[in-house]
Amino acid sequence: MPSFQSITILNFTLFVFLIAAMVVTSESVHICKPTDHGPVVPTTPLVIFLQNIQETAFKTFGPLNFDPKIYVDLSLKFDLPTVKQAFNDLPRTENGSVSGSDFNGFFTKFMNRTQDDLEVIDPVDFVAEPGGFLPKVVHPGVRNWALEVHSLWKNLTRKVSDRVLENPEMHTLLPLKYPVIIPGSRFQEVYYWDSYWIIRGLLVSKMYDTAKGMVLNLIDLIGTYGYVLNGARAYYTNRSQPPLLSSMVIEVYKCTKDVDLVKKALPALIKEHNFWNSGVHNVTIKDSHGSTHNLSRYYAMWNHPRPESFTIDTETANKLENDCEKEQFYRELASTAETGWDFSTRWMKNASDLTTLSTTTIVPVDLNAYLLKMELDISFLANVVGDSSHALLFTRASESRKRAMDIVFWDEEKGQWFDYWLNASSNHKDVIHKFDASNQNQGLFVSNFIPLWVQLFNSDETVVNKVAQSLESSGLIRVAGIATSLTNSSQQWDFPNGWAPIQHMIAEGLVRSGSKEARSLAKDIAVRWIRTNYAAYKTSKAMHEKYDVSNCGQFGGGGEYVPQTGFGWSNGVVLALLEEFGWAEDLSPYCQQSVGDNGLGPVVGG
Ligand SMILES: *[C@@H]1O[C@H](CO)[C@@H](O)[C@H](O)[C@H]1NC(C)=O
Ligand SMILES: *[C@@H]1O[C@H](CO)[C@@H](O)[C@H](O)[C@H]1NC(C)=O
Ligand SMILES: *[C@@H]1O[C@H](CO)[C@@H](O)[C@H](O)[C@H]1NC(C)=O
Ligand SMILES: *[C@@H]1O[C@H](CO)[C@@H](O)[C@H](O)[C@H]1NC(C)=O
Ligand SMILES: *[C@@H]1O[C@H](CO)[C@@H](O)[C@H](O)[C@H]1NC(C)=O
Ligand SMILES: *[C@@H]1O[C@H](CO)[C@@H](O)[C@H](O)[C@H]1NC(C)=O
Ligand SMILES: *[C@@H]1O[C@H](CO)[C@@H](O)[C@H](O)[C@H]1NC(C)=O
Ligand SMILES: *[C@@H]1O[C@H](CO)[C@@H](O)[C@H](O)[C@H]1NC(C)=O
Ligand SMILES: *[C@@H]1O[C@H](CO)[C@@H](O)[C@H](O)[C@H]1NC(C)=O
Repeated sequence: MPSFQSITILNFTLFVFLIAAMVVTSESVHICKPTDHGPVVPTTPLVIFLQNIQETAFKTFGPLNFDPKIYVDLSLKFDLPTVKQAFNDLPRTENGSVSGSDFNGFFTKFMNRTQDDLEVIDPVDFVAEPGGFLPKVVHPGVRNWALEVHSLWKNLTRKVSDRVLENPEMHTLLPLKYPVIIPGSRFQEVYYWDSYWIIRGLLVSKMYDTAKGMVLNLIDLIGTYGYVLNGARAYYTNRSQPPLLSSMVIEVYKCTKDVDLVKKALPALIKEHNFWNSGVHNVTIKDSHGSTHNLSRYYAMWNHPRPESFTIDTETANKLENDCEKEQFYRELASTAETGWDFSTRWMKNASDLTTLSTTTIVPVDLNAYLLKMELDISFLANVVGDSSHALLFTRASESRKRAMDIVFWDEEKGQWFDYWLNASSNHKDVIHKFDASNQNQGLFVSNFIPLWVQLFNSDETVVNKVAQSLESSGLIRVAGIATSLTNSSQQWDFPNGWAPIQHMIAEGLVRSGSKEARSLAKDIAVRWIRTNYAAYKTSKAMHEKYDVSNCGQFGGGGEYVPQTGFGWSNGVVLALLEEFGWAEDLSPYCQQSVGDNGLGPVVGG
């Protein structure tokens, strides 16, 4: 693997080459704006071949219940040239489809499935009821359920098979050394930001070794790629996800006091910090006093259809006029996947048209909140190992970012932080943008409240009171939790869906403020969320990826795939919230659907 520096140089060379190529061929092709060319390196031969299989399967079986991801998760039973030859030899119809029986015959003989790449193993540190498990959960029904949720770690623990480690070129699953907890269902590989809430749950379950192994795997990814991938697949190598590794390290350290882990993590985190604060991720904004501020944005190094959604992305892009527009749209799709919020009207110029995604021209509140936290975490961890110069450097970095967030995102009157939209027509690398308050996106998204999670904000009583009030009157808090937005767009990161990590960050931010009122609001949110998880579990016998917060006991829908169960981060959040707030013997765990005039359920006493 090339080092991160050499990749940057390589990309620069590629960039120059592309410019040169554009000049030479400008007669015959559309000239894309220079902003369309971030560093893009071709994908692995196996991914390209599997995409090919995916397209053929789509033509053969049709769009009904078609999940393109299944095909890029396949592995080979023989070497690539052999399998490719066999596939190319299948008889084709005019539109390129093959017969169902030919396809299935090929499949059985030449391909292995995801399950063949993974061993289902028992986590080494699992016990049915760990000592000191959820001491404040007294209600017998809730306690039994919490133990069931705890036991689901066994359903979700996997070890990457030795076959993947020996022949990585035959698998899109990436070789990871330590056992992993997967989210579940179609997500049979490790995901970056999911891992944070999985780890929070593992810590409640006292599974410290498994939690530490998850962290070490992600540190290894930074060693190989320079950053943590979106997920542990060969087709996720050109984008990351909300950067929460430092948060994982801090939480594991708090439980284990493992200084060796901190020593391993620190250089990796500094490298990751650099990834998010240089090149295409770096945005500089000059305020009205002439001071400049550095903030960060999501920006995938990719401008093709996402391999795991190749057929869908190609289809969506069909309405676009030319190849340049398509390239830019593919980059926006991949960059939106990097945000973790895929998809949402938050990133769209036109809420009913996905091709208007504009993620790379948005400076997001939540990303910068996570990076601010990363800076505080690195500073803390550097102190743990006695590295005072890095501690100081990152304290300074956190102070600069805090100032930048105050100026660019904060709206004092509304009590919210708003995403900042860059002027797209002047959005080139190395441009210094002039701050203009009218570029703040005044739309209501739950991300407008996420900075509350970070100590530099939740330690400020005035800010906490203002933001808590703003949240309470926003209409986002519904009978079964906090909604992602108020726009019912059929995108999965919009109304009426609520997501576990969001409930948790907001509740934890409120609790960490130390204010009694804030804690009581946090508990109210937690109780709503736990009730809906409990009710849905009782009726569906499963934990879900997302929930419909307008309807207690109902899981969520929308988006580009069918609803998923399992589910790593939902399990983690239920356990973490139960640990924080407990559950009294006389508190009903059942849905309270008698919704008052304000759309809120009954408020729960602190
Ligand atoms: C994606 O970007 C990385 C550099 O960060 C590069 O190593 C890789 O080859 C690129 N392309 C793919 C498909 O992985
Ligand atoms: C391709 O052709 C086959 C057989 O002629 C037909 O069954 C299938 O629906 C076609 N697929 C598409 C996407 O047009
Ligand atoms: C395919 O999977 C089976 C187990 O399900 C395994 O025995 C076999 O070795 C795998 N083939 C390859 C080439 O990895
Ligand atoms: C922004 O980044 C540049 C390059 O690292 C640095 O020189 C400058 O001081 C930074 N500005 C602020 C306000 O931190
Ligand atoms: C938004 O997109 C929809 C669907 O493509 C379209 O009908 C509508 O005209 C668009 N609105 C604007 C303001 O462009
Ligand atoms: C956006 O940038 C373009 C090109 O630099 C400029 O002409 C235009 O006035 C800018 N628009 C806004 C709203 O700042
Ligand atoms: C970010 O971009 C600005 C403007 O081009 C530049 O001055 C600064 O050095 C960059 N910062 C980093 C850390 O690359
Ligand atoms: C959201 O819109 C869909 C149709 O577009 C509708 O079926 C559904 O009831 C709406 N959900 C809510 C909670 O309003
Ligand atoms: C978890 O695994 C156990 C044992 O295999 C099984 O009985 C149970 O149904 C699984 N639970 C879920 C929610 O998949």
